[in-house]
Amino acid sequence: MVDDHAAWPAARLAGRLKLDDAQPAALVYDLTQVQARAQALQGALPEFTHCLALKAAPYAALLRRFAAWGFGFEAASLTEGLVAQQAAPGAVVLFDSPAKTRSEIARAEAMGWVLSANSLDELARVSRPCSLRINPLTGAGRIAHTSVADARSRFGEPFDALPAALADDPRCAGWHAHIGSQGCSIEQLVLAARRLVDVALRHPHTRWLNLGGGLPAQGVFGDYAAALRQTVPELFEGRWTVYTEMGRSLLATTARAYSRVEYARRGVATIHLGADFLLRRVYRPEDWAYPMRVLDADFAPLTAAAGEAVEQTIAGPLCFAGDVLGSVQAPPIREGDIVEIDQVGAYSTSMWSRHCSRPMPPVYGLDAAGALVPLSAGESEADVLRLWAAPDAG
Ligand SMILES: Cc1ncc(COP(=O)(O)O)c(C=O)c1O
Repeated sequence: MVDDHAAWPAARLAGRLKLDDAQPAALVYDLTQVQARAQALQGALPEFTHCLALKAAPYAALLRRFAAWGFGFEAASLTEGLVAQQAAPGAVVLFDSPAKTRSEIARAEAMGWVLSANSLDELARVSRPCSLRINPLTGAGRIAHTSVADARSRFGEPFDALPAALADDPRCAGWHAHIGSQGCSIEQLVLAARRLVDVALRHPHTRWLNLGGGLPAQGVFGDYAAALRQTVPELFEGRWTVYTEMGRSLLATTARAYSRVEYARRGVATIHLGADFLLRRVYRPEDWAYPMRVLDADFAPLTAAAGEAVEQTIAGPLCFAGDVLGSVQAPPIREGDIVEIDQVGAYSTSMWSRHCSRPMPPVYGLDAAGALVPLSAGESEADVLRLWAAPDAG
C-alpha cells in the first residue's frame, strides 16, 4: 500500500522532477499502482462492468489507460461525458448529473450514453430507456457533506415510495444508487445494493443496475465483493448488466503532490498548493486528512536527530488566514525543501479553485520503468488570462 513510504518512488523523482520558479509544484501518479487498483477491483468483481467516476480525476491520459483495461466512465456533467468520449471513443458513459437540461438529455440520448434520471420529474423528460436513481435510505455516512442517502437527500427517489406504474414503464430499464463518498461503510454500501436489487426484482423491464461508487480511499475491493456475494447473490446470476462507478478508491492513494517550500519563517512553511488544490481539507479539516512529509531538494526525507523535530505549519499560497493544510513534525524546514502530500490522486486538481487565479500544476505519471511521463501540462498564465478575458478581447 502507498502508506509504505519505501514503496513510493519519491527517491526516483530525484533528477527527474524539477521544481523551480516555472514549476514550483506538481502531481505525480504511480502508474503501476493505478493499474494495480484497477485490476484489484476487476479481479474482485469480474462479473461487473466497472466505470471510473471522472470527477475524481478526469485526465485523458488516465482515462485512456482505464478504457484499455476495459473500464467505462461515470460523468456527472455533460462536459465530463464529452471528456470521456474524446479520450476513449466508444466507451460506456453513465451520465448522472442532478441538473440535466432538456438539451443535455437529448444530446446524451443521441450519443448512446446510459442516462440516470435523478427524479420522476427528470424521467418525464426522457424518451429512451434509462436508469432511475433511487435513494436507498441507508442513512448518512461519517461525512455529512458527501452523504446522499439520508431522508433529506435530493438525490434519487426514495426506494420505498416508487409509483406502482413504473413497473409498466419500459423506460425504467435500469436502477441506480450512490450513497456517498469516503465516509460510507461496506455495510451501508451493501444495504444499498440489496435495496436496489429488491427494486429491480419488482420491475420486469430491468436490464441493468448501477451500484454507484463510494468505497473509501483505502477500501479493500475484496471485502466489498465478499459482502455483496453474501448479501446480494442475485447480482451474480447474470440476469442484469451490473455497473460500478468508483472514483476515490481507484485513484486516491495512487498519487502524491510535491511543492517547493517558498518561504519558511515563524514555524510556517509556505508552499504552492493550498485551498486551491485541497479545497475540502482546508475548509473542513475535521473531515479530510492528507499525510504530509518534508523532503530535501533531492527528494530524500528530512531526518531529525533525537529531539530535533518540531511541529511546523504547512500553509498554502492563497491570501487568507485559513489557507493551511496542517502541520508536520520535522527538523526545521528551509526554503527549497519539498513538501510531499499523500493520497491526492482523487478530488484534488479536479476540484481546483480559482481563488487568487493561480494556474493548475502539471501532472506526471511514473511508469514501471521509472520514467516520468507527462499526463497534463496543467495551466499556463495564458490559460488563466483567457479564462478571465472579456469575450471580445481578441
Ligand atoms: C453518482 C456518483 N457516482 C460515483 C461517485 C464516485 O464516488 P467515489 O469517488 O467516492 O467512489 C460519485 C461521487 O460523488 C457520485 O456522485
